[in-house]
Amino acid sequence: MSECKPTPAIAVRVNNEKVLLTETCTVLNALSKTSQFATRIGIRGRRGPCCGMGVCQECRVRINGKLALACLSFCRDGMEIVTEMQGPVDERCG
Ligand code: FES
Repeated sequence: MSECKPTPAIAVRVNNEKVLLTETCTVLNALSKTSQFATRIGIRGRRGPCCGMGVCQECRVRINGKLALACLSFCRDGMEIVTEMQGPVDERCG
């Protein structure tokens, strides 16, 4: 996963934690800047983003209430991002 270092210009919230970054950052970048990188709990414990390219579906989150893949979604100012660790994400993106 690449590092996202430009001067922060926008703010999003990940499980109510404020994250500063730019619009060139993906939601996956935003998750990596928090203490809550895991997106859900599997039968063997916490699960998190794996492939970074839309294949594994491990980065499913709710963005402003809609299911989306964090690795394929760009951040926008004021976005509300919620992981299963905060609330249920039990549907498949499609
Ligand atoms: S990290 Fe695999 S689909 Fe997003």
